[in-house]
Amino acid sequence: MTTRTLVITASILAENGQSRGLAEHFIAQARTRDGLEVTHRDLVAEELPHLGLAELGSWQVADEERTADQRELAARSDALIAELRAHDVVVLAVPMYNFGIPSQLKAWFDRVMRAGVTFRYTENGPLGLVEGKRAVILAARGGQYAGTEMDTQTPHLKAMLGMIGIKEVDTVFAEGLAMGGGKRDAALKEARQAIDGLVERL
Ligand SMILES: Cc1cc2nc3c(=O)[nH]c(=O)nc-3n(C[C@H](O)[C@H](O)[C@H](O)COP(=O)(O)O)c2cc1C
Repeated sequence: MTTRTLVITASILAENGQSRGLAEHFIAQARTRDGLEVTHRDLVAEELPHLGLAELGSWQVADEERTADQRELAARSDALIAELRAHDVVVLAVPMYNFGIPSQLKAWFDRVMRAGVTFRYTENGPLGLVEGKRAVILAARGGQYAGTEMDTQTPHLKAMLGMIGIKEVDTVFAEGLAMGGGKRDAALKEARQAIDGLVERL
């Protein structure tokens, strides 16, 4: 059986991006394994615009009634959702920028979180419609926040993934990358080891 993995990167720091480096390590490890297929989507190389009213509106019009512009706008989200659905595992390589996720990654979530398509509201609350998938978060930060309320990213990411039905989430932290004193190298080494373990279990 083939496990298809979608790796999403969003570092703005080009070849110095630590989350990208971890994603590349994941990809390299995955490619040594039989039965693991990897797709890489770099949200900085291929940037999505902010979600705006025209695009949001295009989702609310039935396909056959859409104008040419609306069809083009809706296709952006349709394609990203189809790509997500076509994979079993989604790996999010996530830099921390100003206590948030990169806006490029938020723009991706804004396209894949679509009422009536990837989740719907029920009497018992929202129901995720992206089934049978798991996620891995590779979190790179200058400081150290895991397990504290200053980890402003993990709850946000888990809330968004959970909303669309992805509730099984593993997180690998590479923290203290800006703190000096050998913390960076040790954190990256530990993160790479954790990734090796995760790839083994995929
Ligand atoms: C614009 C910017 C904002 C940052 N904000 C934070 C922050 O709020 N907290 C933190 O711990 N590190 C912060 N950092 C450090 C990054 O988290 C660190 O460089 C990490 O390696 C970023 O991931 P990347 O290397 O994959 O881009 C910031 C870095 C940049 C460039």
